[in-house]
Order: sequence, then structure tokens, then C-alpha cells
Amino acid sequence: MAAEPTTRELRALVAGYEFDRGHLLPALIAIQERYGYVSRRAMEALARQLGTTPALVYGAVSFYADFRTEPPPRREIVWCSGPACRLRGGDRIREALQHTLGLPLDGQSADGACGFRLGQCNGTCSEAPQVWLDGEVVGGLTVAAAVALAREVMEDGAS
Ligand code: FES
Repeated sequence: MAAEPTTRELRALVAGYEFDRGHLLPALIAIQERYGYVSRRAMEALARQLGTTPALVYGAVSFYADFRTEPPPRREIVWCSGPACRLRGGDRIREALQHTLGLPLDGQSADGACGFRLGQCNGTCSEAPQVWLDGEVVGGLTVAAAVALAREVMEDGAS
């Protein structure tokens, strides 16, 4: 797992962002794109840069589900909770994934090997029921295929 960025690195990344110019979200996106998550240290560095409080920055981070406050897992399955996927058996897929991974939705294994997150429809419903594996669509899932996928992710994430 990559080391947490230093305060110096974080300050360099957010230098130039200004609160009065609506830069809170762009700065958070830049931090997450660079490091994969927004650490407490990053929130503090950004608050200092913007001249606001870490609590306000944390409020924004916690409001938007796409922001992470912990390093991302090595492998990740995102389950689509949209209507087309659920009409085509998405709930059974979720149950199979949760059972096989041993993780709740939005859970992550303690060793950081794999994670399981709730996702929203992104308009690729012709692939329903689907998940995203490390950002790539895996569609037309059956329960058996979901179990196989979860096992693969656990094995890959552990190596
Ligand atoms: S409902 Fe799952 S991709 Fe649209």
C-alpha cells in the first residue's frame, strides 16, 4: 500500500486553489485523483489553503459518496443498484457477492485486498445485471458468475 502523502506534498498539490472561487470540490477531486482518497491530513492541508476549517472540508467529503477517506482496495467490485439491474436479478447478485467476499456493501477487507461498494446506474443498462470490476463493466451476471468473480478478486487481491 502506498504511503500517505506528506503535508508538504499535499500543500503543493492544493496551492492555487481558492475558496472564494468555488475551488473546494475541484481541489478534493484533484487530491483523490492523485492519491486515490482524501486523508485527514489532506483535509487539513486543504482547509488551511482555502482559509476554512477542516470540519467544512470533511462535510463536503462525507456528503459526496464518491470521495474516499481511506486508501482504495487493490481490487474492487462496485455493485449497480439501478432499476434495470435489480429487475434482472441484481439483488441475488449482491447477496452472492457479499456472501462470497464476506463483506457488507461499502466494506473493505482489513488487509486492503478487496472492497465491495454500492454503485449507481451509469446508463449501460443493456449489460444488466452488472457490476464494475476495477472500473470495467462485467455484465450479464448470474449468481454462479458472481461467486466466481468474487473468488477471483479475493485471490488476486491477496497476491
Ligand atoms: S441499472 Fe444497472 S447499469 Fe443501469
